[in-house]
Amino acid sequence: MKILIVGSGGREHTLVWKLKQSPLCTHLFCAPGNAGMENQAELVDIHAGDIDQLASFAENNAIDLVVVGPEAPLAEGLADACRERGVNVFGPSQAAARLESSKSFARQLMKKYDIPTPAFGSFDDPQEAKQFVREMAKEGKQVVVKADGLAAGKGAIVTSSPNEADQAVDLCMKDKAFGDAGARVVVEERLRGPELSILAVTDGKKIVILPPSQDHKPIGEGDTGPNTGGMGAYSPVPIVADAVLDEIRRTILEPTVIGMEKEGCPYTGVLYAGLMMCEQKPYVIEFNCRFGDPETQAVLPVIAEDILPLLMEAARGEIKENRIIPASGSALCVVMASGGYPGSYEKGKPIAGLDQVEKQMQNRAVVFHAGTAKQEGGIVTSGGRVLGVTGLGRDFDEAYANAYQAVEMISFDGAYYRKDIGYRVRQK
Ligand code: AMP
Ligand code: GLY
Repeated sequence: MKILIVGSGGREHTLVWKLKQSPLCTHLFCAPGNAGMENQAELVDIHAGDIDQLASFAENNAIDLVVVGPEAPLAEGLADACRERGVNVFGPSQAAARLESSKSFARQLMKKYDIPTPAFGSFDDPQEAKQFVREMAKEGKQVVVKADGLAAGKGAIVTSSPNEADQAVDLCMKDKAFGDAGARVVVEERLRGPELSILAVTDGKKIVILPPSQDHKPIGEGDTGPNTGGMGAYSPVPIVADAVLDEIRRTILEPTVIGMEKEGCPYTGVLYAGLMMCEQKPYVIEFNCRFGDPETQAVLPVIAEDILPLLMEAARGEIKENRIIPASGSALCVVMASGGYPGSYEKGKPIAGLDQVEKQMQNRAVVFHAGTAKQEGGIVTSGGRVLGVTGLGRDFDEAYANAYQAVEMISFDGAYYRKDIGYRVRQK
């Protein structure tokens, strides 16, 4: 099979790494890809936002399956464009991608189909949003204010008082901090509890649950400071037994898939449920319409089976049965970022130590590139999140030790990483 992966981050490098191992894969393209993939895939110089060119490339090169990494091209209709040309594609249609691209659409669906969700309201008018904040405060509830549209993972503002919530509403709606994405806001009850990322592959009917993972969104240790795209992840999550996954399937994943079909936009691809466990019960914080980043860098390495058949079955509507894929061993990914991220940062810093990890940590760690570029003389930084360094092991402790051993071999000017990825497990 000839495969085209769309995207250029750590998630896509992990997909390349995994699909490259499939005996069914004869040729792997990545558009536009990154410097870390050059030996594993043929890079195609088309931007992930260039829907028409990507779909034409897939058609003209007889691609058997297009696998879409990021949310933006899905929200812009890349999967529809491929299907119109008769190309198999792993990823939801534009209408189905609204589960991620419109938080109000997602919350309304959850309400209609009784999927456990925090109390919420969606508003086009700042005054009404603030009024709702007051009503929630009367019930003793704090709120989270969210831009309705896509904001690169940064559009949710967790607040502790009505005044803070008012400021967040103004930031979205008056200051337009998230552009048009914030013209509508969702205000919702702030829940408390550990978060969990569940990635499930679906063909619109059957659901296959991948090993659970946990992301670390804030920039600072102990989950402090502003949110980022994600600073690290591990999989599996020791507290999550198969019984919990069965409950998540029954109360969240199945009703969502059934609801989407009833709404006339059947969902295929990865259904990513960002959950919060409150008193042992899972609530949906958000849905994403794609693999998580950096969750993928920890989840795919613990999947022993070849996932290409599964992705193909999802694209064709041919998944045979509901199941849970067991984790084989453990993986922990530490994101190395440019100093200053998620604010402004410098690029072009030479990265040292990549060869050393490859030579000395074979089978114990793998480095996935995200914001890197090739220059004469070597690999340099070119983005906020630069590398995802994944440690592998038989159990959590081994994966943790291997990840940080590899991280310490790598250096670049201004490199920043959290030293506490997986702290919830280590505290136990
Ligand atoms: P989102 O963009 O919706 O994924 O939100 C980003 C982060 O904000 C989540 O990972 C949570 O840490 C936090 N968050 C979002 N919604 C809530 C909520 N209702 N209660 C508590 N925390 C939340
Ligand atoms: N790691 C969070 C996300 O992929 O949205």
